[in-house]
Amino acid sequence: MSDLAAAAAAELAALEAAGRLRRRPLIDSPDGRVVQLRDQGGRRTLVNWASNDYLGASGELTVRNGAARALRSFGAGSGAARLLAGGLAIHRRLELALARWLGCEEVLLTTTGFQANLAAVTSLVGDGDAVVLDRLCHASLYDGARLSGARLHRFLHNDPADLARVLAGCAGARRRLVCVESVYSMDGDEAPLAPIAAVCREHGAVLLVDEAHALGVLGAGGRGLCAELGVRPDVLVATCSKSLGSQGGIIAAAAPVVELVVNRGRPFIYSTAPVPAAAGAACAALDLLRRDPGLPAALLARAAGLRQGLAAQGWSVPAGRTPIVPVLVGGEAETLALAARLRELGHYAPAIRPPTVPEGSCRLRLTVTLAHRDADVRRLLKVMEGIRKKEEGGRRKEEGLP
Ligand SMILES: Cc1ncc(COP(=O)(O)O)c(C=O)c1O
Repeated sequence: MSDLAAAAAAELAALEAAGRLRRRPLIDSPDGRVVQLRDQGGRRTLVNWASNDYLGASGELTVRNGAARALRSFGAGSGAARLLAGGLAIHRRLELALARWLGCEEVLLTTTGFQANLAAVTSLVGDGDAVVLDRLCHASLYDGARLSGARLHRFLHNDPADLARVLAGCAGARRRLVCVESVYSMDGDEAPLAPIAAVCREHGAVLLVDEAHALGVLGAGGRGLCAELGVRPDVLVATCSKSLGSQGGIIAAAAPVVELVVNRGRPFIYSTAPVPAAAGAACAALDLLRRDPGLPAALLARAAGLRQGLAAQGWSVPAGRTPIVPVLVGGEAETLALAARLRELGHYAPAIRPPTVPEGSCRLRLTVTLAHRDADVRRLLKVMEGIRKKEEGGRRKEEGLP
């Protein structure tokens, strides 16, 4: 074994000992409802509680047909970056459709949502500027902030008063960019966007809102939490990889801001354009939402059923309304054991551990989709109730209680 391989193996062993080793699952037939997991030589069908395909769009025939049409018309790959030969009509069609739907001046499509955040942040701030992030912001916003060369500051999660304090502390910076998510990916909670926007206005700061988990889920027809609250951020970032059942990052802003990202955003400039099928699928998913603006409400109703059921059983489930339903467990070992037990009982919900979430807040992150059936939710609740009762029985026995 080379020195590097031996050092890597030692690091992996340390991760495993800490309960933090990650492995790639092997899944066939994914959709918003079930996965076929290849596990220990066999293949098992499990109910999928780990998909962000909130509307079940990726499995919809019209969305698959949208992908197939784009594939036939434009080929399998885009062949080059957007600014070279990869700027296809299907990309522009999606940008224009999103701009119209969101009611914003201009949209830029990037290859992934991660790249959208990298490109937006690094284009807007640099040396001499400050980026102020909510503590729980996604890795892509942190990485964008670090790459940008601007000074990175953090404020307490969802706390506009702390944001004001941090902004006052970096008043000397040339430009101050505040980054928040509208729905936080691991907690499913919503940002107080109106007070956050007010603080930004008061301090002359620029506001970027990542709506990755709100698009298609909240707001009229699924237009997101900014639309619901009437907040207009300077930059709205989102992704086609969740409710739109496809792939590709979205940057929505005033036209000159988007053109600046086109000219400065290295993750956009130096990466091959999204595959045509991804853009075609996202166009079709957007049509789906436009045709049936009631989809988000149906999704929230299903999520409410699961959240209420788990809370009634005594699980630690924070209040909320989004389809991200975290079940807080605490330590790595207990969370891994709970995920393994659920898997034995036919439900797929991987354990979420640091560094994705803070120390001591390991959890199951259950996501509800419109591809699920009501019976799936009922079955999961029954299984979770059984596990809870067994745990309680064990505890009482340990404490010598009858
Ligand atoms: C809040 C947030 N922003 C950005 C991303 C990145 O999106 P994508 O998966 O399209 O790269 C994700 C998802 O993974 C996310 O949860």
